[in-house]
Amino acid sequence: MSDIATKDAVYVTDSLIAEDIDAYLESHEHKTMLRFITCGSVDDGKSTLIGRMLYDSKMIFEDQLDALTADSKKVGTQGQDIDFALLVDGLAAEREQGITIDVAYRFFNTEKRKFIVADCPGHEQYTRNMVTGASTADLAVILIDARKGVLVQTRRHSYLCHLIGIKNIVLAVNKMDLVDYDHAVFDAIVKDYTEFAHSIGIDTFTAMPISGFKGDNITTKSDNTPWYTGPTLIEHLETVEVLSSVDADKPFRLPVQWVNRPNLDFRGFSGLIATGSVKPGDKIRVLPSGKTSTITRIVTMPTLGGVEGDGDLEEATAGQSITVTFADEIDCSRGSVISTADNPPQTADQFESTFVWLADEAMTAGRAYWLKLGTQMVSATVHEPKYTVNVNTMEHMAAKTLELNAIGVAELTTDKAVVFEPYADNRTLGGFILIDKMTNATVAAGMINFSLRRSQNVHWQATDIGRKQHADLKNQKPALLWFTGLSGSGKSTIANLVEKKLYRMNRHTFLLDGDNVRHGLNKDLGFTEADRIENIRRVGEVAKLMTDSGLIVITAFISPFQAERDMVRGMLPEGEFIEVFIDTPLRVAESRDVKGLYKKARAGELKNFTGIDSPYEAPRNPEIRIDTTAITPEEAADLIVNTLLGDA
Ligand code: ADX
Repeated sequence: MSDIATKDAVYVTDSLIAEDIDAYLESHEHKTMLRFITCGSVDDGKSTLIGRMLYDSKMIFEDQLDALTADSKKVGTQGQDIDFALLVDGLAAEREQGITIDVAYRFFNTEKRKFIVADCPGHEQYTRNMVTGASTADLAVILIDARKGVLVQTRRHSYLCHLIGIKNIVLAVNKMDLVDYDHAVFDAIVKDYTEFAHSIGIDTFTAMPISGFKGDNITTKSDNTPWYTGPTLIEHLETVEVLSSVDADKPFRLPVQWVNRPNLDFRGFSGLIATGSVKPGDKIRVLPSGKTSTITRIVTMPTLGGVEGDGDLEEATAGQSITVTFADEIDCSRGSVISTADNPPQTADQFESTFVWLADEAMTAGRAYWLKLGTQMVSATVHEPKYTVNVNTMEHMAAKTLELNAIGVAELTTDKAVVFEPYADNRTLGGFILIDKMTNATVAAGMINFSLRRSQNVHWQATDIGRKQHADLKNQKPALLWFTGLSGSGKSTIANLVEKKLYRMNRHTFLLDGDNVRHGLNKDLGFTEADRIENIRRVGEVAKLMTDSGLIVITAFISPFQAERDMVRGMLPEGEFIEVFIDTPLRVAESRDVKGLYKKARAGELKNFTGIDSPYEAPRNPEIRIDTTAITPEEAADLIVNTLLGDA
């Protein structure tokens, strides 16, 4: 979420740079940084406003100004005046369309502060961009056209900003020049917005009357609004409390990025402090293990081969990258979180979360995604949404999935305990992204609302007779022969032969067959993508239990998705899962049509039929591939048994 795409950054300068670069850098080093976003509809004047701020702060190179003046006359929309929007709307395509299509980050600074502004587009389909821009912001400027008042977009943007956790909201009532700086117009808009803001949980915001085009109340107080006594926009941006100082007052949390081990004498843990502060001598706790120790040193800027950088620190706070050492040798690695000993974050593996779906491909309930939370990476499945939110009306709606730009609430299960805090308390430890395991694309941004207690009250019970004892008694090595292939490819036939051969060799086996399991355990499941995923999840769990009991398990399911086959593989010890691809081309399976199902599917009487109107993902790296057009079922079974027992 925090990847910054810089496009057309407007580089800034002031006279000090030219005169004395060291003095310039020195003066900037100690400034705080405010990150903010601007949200508005297409012609609310966002780009003009940003351009105005840069211009008024004298932060544009001279040559840029010349180009701007020339461009304004050519393509500007403001007659002979300078069109500030051109400063910002860099891309030609955008100029022609008159819209801003991506998040653009720009940097500028004033005497008091440094700023990064993310310019987010106003279109409905760009929720994704807005969430990206908002995720790191301290403040949001919600622009309103004074002539139009609070619009659906205003509500949507405000809701998203609030959802992302932006506490400082500026309601910038723009284009006041076009309503004759009318106090009543301003008041009416503020009243309207207040009502809405309260309804979604925004308690406070700062409203100001401005004109980005004319410059009213941007850097200097406007004579046109004598009735307005508040700060100018820049004044407000310069003085509002930034997130990093809020974070500094919270309990200490350091997500470990890497273990720094330059030589045998030094073992440090490096990362960026998410919240709080730390001093040598502080008692700490490492999560998820819960082990405690004491901080001995805080080292900064580790350099390769040595550990000395700026030297040791006496204290470090939120936002600083540090390396710490402990008094005791305790387990701590990438993904661990170092916290104060007496007030640690929680760990859990089941959550309720709010999601913003960012991918064209809709969410698949039950499918495993990578979940990246800070430096932690685990496998996670999302359950069917409880509801989605209509971002224009704030209504909750029932849904089976989350589509692009959808915002919804759903439960989530991870395969390992995650160290977290609710997003409302800690953006770093409560915010995560979901990554598609096959494509590596980021598919969702998520915010943890709370953990589910049910997972905390169920504990693993140790038993004395384990999988080793079971296997030893049967005098065999357990395995799972996972057959996959189209309907009618020959899975059941070959699986049956394999089991017979193993049986004759006194092996303890069990065959789980798709059609059979669907008569009992999975009677409630059909053939939608979600049902097939659940089918495989259950079969995977059952097969795992059977291998735990020492059996050689053979499964014959279409199992059309690589993701779920991989999921089952991940449930078993290395080497125990053997993927057997029964490779029969569709045309061959269809011509055999043993059960007459292809005929029905072609006639439209059977929906979601694999290979016809439901996909089949052939295995990428199966342990065994059987070409049924080249060998007989008997030969195939021999090959599989030999492969299995060859390395047994
Ligand atoms: S899977 O996709 O969920 O792995 P599974 O192997 O359990 O499928 O069940 C497949 C069997 O169900 C097929 O061999 C076929 O006999 C039957 N079947 C009924 N409807 C369908 C369908 N729409 N698609 C595939 N198989 C179907």
